[in-house]
Amino acid sequence: MELVETGIPGLDKILGGGLPKGRTILLAGPAGGGKSTFGHQFLYHGIVSAGETGIFVSFDEHPEHVRQQCLNFGWNLRELEEQDLLVIIDGFSPRAGVSSNEKFQTPVDVDELINQLITTIDAIGAERVVIDSITALALSMASEQQIRREILKLSAVMSSLDCTTILTSEMAGTEVSRFGVEEFMSQGVIVLNYKFVNTLGVRSLNIRKMRGQKHEMMERPFTITKSGIIVHVDEQFYF
Ligand SMILES: Nc1ncnc2c1ncn2[C@@H]1O[C@H](COP(=O)(O)OP(=O)(O)OP(=O)(O)O)[C@@H](O)[C@H]1O
Ligand SMILES: [Mg+2]
Repeated sequence: MELVETGIPGLDKILGGGLPKGRTILLAGPAGGGKSTFGHQFLYHGIVSAGETGIFVSFDEHPEHVRQQCLNFGWNLRELEEQDLLVIIDGFSPRAGVSSNEKFQTPVDVDELINQLITTIDAIGAERVVIDSITALALSMASEQQIRREILKLSAVMSSLDCTTILTSEMAGTEVSRFGVEEFMSQGVIVLNYKFVNTLGVRSLNIRKMRGQKHEMMERPFTITKSGIIVHVDEQFYF
């Protein structure tokens, strides 16, 4: 199986090389767990180091906030957008019911989103897609049944498009699958954790599954530094 580097130091090592190319991965974690940063880093690295163009669908935040946060890490997204190496699709403004000046927008409609993704993948030859988050997308739907149907459809279509896709998902408690299907429809699941040891907040990550791939099972600490996420794999770490 061909693997693609995440660009997250330490993670590729515990993944045995990277994420399975062309597959859909669920990235679950609590609020503030680092899900969006992970997604941004995966796309930025893909474009500047791996030569793979990308699409970021933002339902959680306005694209301007995404650009600003990335700039704090030294990742200039605007520059990549101007070169047609990256497309940011604004799903936030339509969801919030506010107008947007963004060139690319999507309503909260999975069929429409799929159409837009197909067109954009074709237009820029995208090989990486991040949808942040499926929780925001799902919570705008009418029923649990619809949520499950639409998430399954999105996942099936992404798998057929040959793009390495990350779907972020907010965990409310310890359940990875908030809507009962996410974990099973993805080829891989990475869980981000955030816990307090005495008064110190500690971030950690574990690979919960990666179909067809040998990977580490251990929970590994990670930090968010000024240049992005680093997973600590070499040093001893006690929780
Ligand atoms: N430039 C930075 N340097 C260091 N740490 C940062 C920086 N920017 C953000 N962080 C840390 O990352 C955390 C947020 O990460 P991120 O937005 O990726 O999480 P998230 O899981 O997407 O959160 P949400 O559930 O709110 O969408 C912040 O709370 C902060 O602790
Ligand atoms: Mg986020």
